[in-house]
Amino acid sequence: MLYAAFRSIGAYAPKKILSNEDLSTMVDTSDEWITKRTGIKERRIAADNEYTSDLGVKAAELAIERSGLKKQEIDMIVCATISPDYFCMPSTATIISTKLGLNNITAFDISAACTGFVYILSIAKAFIESGMKKNVLIIGAEKLSSITDYSDRGTCILFGDGAGAAVISATDNKDEAIIDVHTGADGAYADLLMTPNGGSGSAHDSLNPEDTSCFMEMKGNETFKVAVRTLTKDVVEILKENNIDSKSINHFVPHQANYRIIKAVGDALKLREDQVVLTVEKYGNTSGASIPMAINDIYEKGTLKKGELMLLDAFGGGLTWGSALVPFSPLK
Ligand code: UT7
Repeated sequence: MLYAAFRSIGAYAPKKILSNEDLSTMVDTSDEWITKRTGIKERRIAADNEYTSDLGVKAAELAIERSGLKKQEIDMIVCATISPDYFCMPSTATIISTKLGLNNITAFDISAACTGFVYILSIAKAFIESGMKKNVLIIGAEKLSSITDYSDRGTCILFGDGAGAAVISATDNKDEAIIDVHTGADGAYADLLMTPNGGSGSAHDSLNPEDTSCFMEMKGNETFKVAVRTLTKDVVEILKENNIDSKSINHFVPHQANYRIIKAVGDALKLREDQVVLTVEKYGNTSGASIPMAINDIYEKGTLKKGELMLLDAFGGGLTWGSALVPFSPLK
């Protein structure tokens, strides 16, 4: 029997910091409001010539190096992004594969917004368990600053840029295996969080050269309520189905959208503070990159140890949601 093991993690955060104070000179907001309502203090912004693929490559190089595998052993790359280098094609995953010097392997993107990393984890698991692939590089990479409207205080205070990557490999040792991954979606809530312009269903005027906006729009308060409800329900279900008590989770790694959402879900699960991984303060919401960036944070702090159990939980535009029970199983 083949299983999928979570071997390694890597992440990259661009150098430039956009603080709450900076934002308060751009829109009608304040450090006090943003901190109180979201827990965010600052976020990173990629340079003009730094694309989503560049962020992804830096995270991927670290993940590959830490996996102990040779780069050439990677046989598939899947990238989760809503801010690809190019709208439609080529996919960011193919650009990343070439920048890594890995031509001639399977590479594709998926779009599941902030749930992207949980979705690509489920894809890697399925490809490996079916025997089709052995070592899958999964990457959540976002240059959200390229689709953020910096005149809209309801969204621009939340989002930032960054990337996280992981190597998922085949194993025959069940103790190392990813236990379960849940994914779900409901398009009935599509209008809560969307980029309404630029696609075939949009009001975008392709004949008007000035109409180029592809910005995110969000009904923040409604999204907040659905997020708390959906995230809590999903983690309760995955724990119950796998007969795992929340007390035995070493690291709860939620999507970093808003500290108040994370706190509400953590409280519902009766988690201790030391079980909950938080990076929202320094990176804001980096969509599909937020969970792997948070895992990298505990890895680099030395608090993520071999064999420890992570519970991942995400929610985002679509709507999409997902959760996963993942032991950390490095080779070394
Ligand atoms: O990652 C995927 C999913 N995304 C999320 O999960 C995000 C979910 N939503 C949120 O995080 C929160 O809804 C926000 C942080 C976006 C907004 O917080 P809120 O507590 O839901 O505020 P609100 O939208 O209910 O607005 C409350 C007040 C309003 O003023 P009035 O009508 O009470 O006078 C807003 O106009 O706060 C005002 N407001 C702001 N004030 C200062 C909204 N944004 C700001 C701002 N600075 N940036």
